[in-house]
Amino acid sequence: MKLYKAKNYQEMSRKAAHVIAAQVILKPDCVLGLATGSSPVGTYQQLIQWYKDGDLDFSKVKTANLDEYKGLTKENDQSYYYFMYQNLFKDINIDMANTNIPDGTNPDSQAEAARYDQVIERLGGVDLQLLGLGRNGHIGFNEPGEAFAKGTHCIDLQPSTIDANKRFFPSIDDVPKQAYTMGIRTIMSARRILLIASGEDKAKALYDSLHGPITPHVPGSILQLHSDVTVVADEAALSLF
Ligand code: F6R
Repeated sequence: MKLYKAKNYQEMSRKAAHVIAAQVILKPDCVLGLATGSSPVGTYQQLIQWYKDGDLDFSKVKTANLDEYKGLTKENDQSYYYFMYQNLFKDINIDMANTNIPDGTNPDSQAEAARYDQVIERLGGVDLQLLGLGRNGHIGFNEPGEAFAKGTHCIDLQPSTIDANKRFFPSIDDVPKQAYTMGIRTIMSARRILLIASGEDKAKALYDSLHGPITPHVPGSILQLHSDVTVVADEAALSLF
């Protein structure tokens, strides 16, 4: 595991963007696994800037996002599809046909999970998976539990996750209670993983993920078993190291 320390969110974003940019340059038709949330926004902004500067070309890149709220349409401004379009896809030269996100509008959880796993398989797997880390140690929407979930599945979001996400919705009642997420097996089968974390509220989850026992109670701890993980975190997130 490689650990890069950044001073703050901005520096974390720039360093993380360097890792993704290197992947795109070395393999222009790579498959990027992408995340939503606050953590990757600065990274995406940096990638957009390098694209606009003519230094990056996304025309052959394919993407597979980690997760999507169940029940939200692409047009809903809280859907992860909408997030990805607004925060990255609309500002780079990616072919939208090459972008993949679980379909939140599919009410059949088993069918959607199977479909999405097949999508990733047909892509030939993920070359570089970007991950944020939940305050409770979740990766994707794999919440702490008694066992590691395997493939893509539908999950009941934990109260702490609903609480953390309520800032994006008019009220806590509007936060979806379920989501589709890549499973731990899906995430772990990515050839490389890039974990980013910023802020003191991530410090315990980050410490437990990288140094604690490997347990489904801290889903991020499974990353200790992956052979190619790069962590970019700021000083606040690393304050317990
Ligand atoms: C998002 C995702 C989540 C977030 C995590 C951290 O696609 O899968 O695991 O990465 O909840 O969220 P932020 O970055 O908002 O702190």
